[in-house]
Amino acid sequence: MVAVAILAAGRGTRMKSDLPKVLHSLGGRSLVERVLNSCFSIQPSRRIVIVGYRGDLVRESLQSDTDVEFVEQTQQLGTGHAVQQILPHLEGFEGNLLVLNGDVPLLRPQTIKMLLQTHTENGNAATILTAHLPNPKGYGRVFCDGQNLLKQIVEDRDCTPAQKQNRRINAGVYCFHWPSLAEVLPRLKAENDQQEYYLTDAVNYLEPVMAVDVEDYQEILGINDRKQLATAYQILQTRVKDDWMAAGVTLIDPDSITIDDTVQLEPDVVIEPQTHLRGQTVIQAGSRIGPGSLIENSQLGEKVTVFYSVVTDSVVAAGTRIGPYAHLRGHVNVGTGCRIGNFVEMKNTTLGDKTNVAHLSYLGDATLGNRVNIGAGTITANYDGVNKHPTHIGSNTKVGSNSVLVAPVTLGEDVTVAAGSVVTEDVPKDCLVIARSRQSVKHGWRIKSQKDETAGG
Ligand code: UD1
Ligand code: CA
Repeated sequence: MVAVAILAAGRGTRMKSDLPKVLHSLGGRSLVERVLNSCFSIQPSRRIVIVGYRGDLVRESLQSDTDVEFVEQTQQLGTGHAVQQILPHLEGFEGNLLVLNGDVPLLRPQTIKMLLQTHTENGNAATILTAHLPNPKGYGRVFCDGQNLLKQIVEDRDCTPAQKQNRRINAGVYCFHWPSLAEVLPRLKAENDQQEYYLTDAVNYLEPVMAVDVEDYQEILGINDRKQLATAYQILQTRVKDDWMAAGVTLIDPDSITIDDTVQLEPDVVIEPQTHLRGQTVIQAGSRIGPGSLIENSQLGEKVTVFYSVVTDSVVAAGTRIGPYAHLRGHVNVGTGCRIGNFVEMKNTTLGDKTNVAHLSYLGDATLGNRVNIGAGTITANYDGVNKHPTHIGSNTKVGSNSVLVAPVTLGEDVTVAAGSVVTEDVPKDCLVIARSRQSVKHGWRIKSQKDETAGG
């Protein structure tokens, strides 16, 4: 049985932020959410998050995950003090406790599995994750004997100059035999440079404690300031992009592309430079996105192309071409083989198959059938200043250039709207509608003053 405790009570002073450190976002997910996710695969029996500084915000951010338990650390007196707070909650628990710092968001699930396995196979009192860092500044240094059995952990600020030379560091990821830890926790003293109760001291009291190295030291980067947050983002991006390229996705100039790790791509998708894929986005095989596009929380079918455009919270079916400079602003549902062209904005709108909106249009709260053609400059006037109203356009209808469809309004199937019309009333199917004043030509007419001058001349 494994319980998990995540230390998330600290303010994170070095972030210089109002927001608690663990709520800072890394590629669309908070640090603490990432740490929780990293231990999902070991199926912990309990998951405890220790909260303190702005604990209400941390609780709120995780409230959709109903199994998470929260324990309050009202004063942040150190990582050891934080774990002391769970003593009453784990009374009688005989299993192992995995402790993770809430600011170590890049851990791989297999690393946690490996740590747990080493711990149980060797019957250790504690097993800690370590790494050899090129620049170990700021981390606790780990001193072991030849068998990887731990002698001591010394915090960076408490190290002698000689101890600082040691590059083996404490990752802030620990597996404890809980009954053994529970026994030594009350003995911690705050006799150190920060006058805090260190969890690392508990490790010093236990035996045997084993250190296990992580293969890829980038995994254990702790986020203490904005620069480390940016570095973590880079590492995450490299991981995500390398994985997609290995899975058959082409990235043209990967450094200029960002992809959230929540995005799903299929083989033979091509992502062009300066393109950003975010949130719950899915892009199917053979689609080509970019250059210069942003796709957020959207599903794109096979062989869709998006060129210098923004697509948010929308669904686009196979073979549709979007852009350049189109904006699907949310709740847009586009059928197959459609064309959405230059400077077209759409919101809360559904298009059937093979429908074209090729130039300079705004469609809001509209439903269009199949093979509709919307002429250049056509807009739906969907807002009367108080309420939004719907527009319905039947299949095969052609709306002439520069028309205004004043909602609520319905155009039947096979309707032709004359260019420049302002359509205010419903139009039945199979009609031509002309809703503009007829052109009149006055022969021999001139502006009066000119005429007078000529006459008087
Ligand atoms: C800690 C370790 C250090 C290790 C490093 C790895 C200790 C004493 N030191 O140092 O050996 O190399 O992590 O990243 O543990 N927290 C609380 N309550 C508190 C204090 C902290 O919940 O009273 C939480 C913080 O929110 C944070 C985590 O514990 O998520 C680590 O705290 P932090 O102050 O960042 O520790 P480090 O100095 O980085
Ligand atoms: Ca830290």
